[in-house]
Amino acid sequence: MSAPLLQARDLARHYRVSRGWFTPKATVRALDGVSFTLQAGRTLAVVGESGCGKSTLARALTLIETPTAGELLIHGRETTGAKDRQALRRDVQMVFQNPYAALNPRKTIASTLAEPLVINTRLGRAERQEHIEALAAKVGLRPEHLQRYPHMFSGGQRQRIAIARAMVMQPGIVVADEPTSALDLSVQAQILNLFMDLQEEFGTGYVFISHNLAVVEHVADEVMVMYLGRVVEHGDKRRVFARPLHPYTQALVSATPALRLAERRQRIPIHGEPPSPLAPPAGCAFHQRCPLAVPRCAQVRPELREVDGRLVACDVI
Ligand SMILES: Nc1ncnc2c1ncn2[C@@H]1O[C@H](COP(=O)(O)OP(=O)(O)O)[C@@H](O)[C@H]1O
Ligand SMILES: [Mg+2]
Repeated sequence: MSAPLLQARDLARHYRVSRGWFTPKATVRALDGVSFTLQAGRTLAVVGESGCGKSTLARALTLIETPTAGELLIHGRETTGAKDRQALRRDVQMVFQNPYAALNPRKTIASTLAEPLVINTRLGRAERQEHIEALAAKVGLRPEHLQRYPHMFSGGQRQRIAIARAMVMQPGIVVADEPTSALDLSVQAQILNLFMDLQEEFGTGYVFISHNLAVVEHVADEVMVMYLGRVVEHGDKRRVFARPLHPYTQALVSATPALRLAERRQRIPIHGEPPSPLAPPAGCAFHQRCPLAVPRCAQVRPELREVDGRLVACDVI
């Protein structure tokens, strides 16, 4: 079998932050010890509350930021220090939450979509035009849309354009960071279906970030649940949603009424906010909010281990 599209091994990204003139700098472990493998044509969904490190992971995977520690391999090749980082970067494209910010307001859609072709290929004008029109059709835009500017489109159409822009060079991997969170509910499903159609056609691997489990249920093959920069549960979507094992995953799933599978389940409340990433608690980062916590949880940080066909970082279950 060929090398996986994307492999993260113990990936970490720490930030040094200043807390004022007279206090020493502190370290935020925005991402810590994250490992996974993504195969072509598959979707890994990353879920968790705001601040758990999802966007930090997205920036590391798209080579926008260099990890503090760990390894990131694209097509089996280590990326840190790679001489052809630019070429590797081309193969991991990003779709953002806010499509408007991702598009140049002064450029027509045609010239935004043509730009990667001008830079990276020897295609002539006519061939570029042909390529762009075909791609525009695939994302549901009409030829006359190509001469317009971003402000002339609705949010959903802009996201279609941003997706087309990510797909121009047919990247192996697309990282989508909350790509439907800013859209109306009625438009969200159309955009999710577009992602899935393009994946079927091009075999793209997706890392799909969302705090919305109903969205994840729709698109994911695998789910990776994060809490304070670490993975707490990771496995096949159906398995994880049908029987979440980590207490944090259980709470997330039970709080999502749209999940058919959750209907039978009692709602599991979690209290309070996640702890400050500047001063994470000892032991399990979730123990202060966990209904199952025992004294040991405040001392020993649980490692991911295999339980019922998926990975879970909890020593109590
Ligand atoms: N450039 C940065 N400098 C300092 N801290 C950061 C930076 N980027 C993110 N963080 C911190 O890292 C943590 C994770 O942030 P983020 O990845 O944006 O989470 P999410 O996308 O899940 O909401 C947060 O505590 C955030 O404040
Ligand atoms: Mg984010």
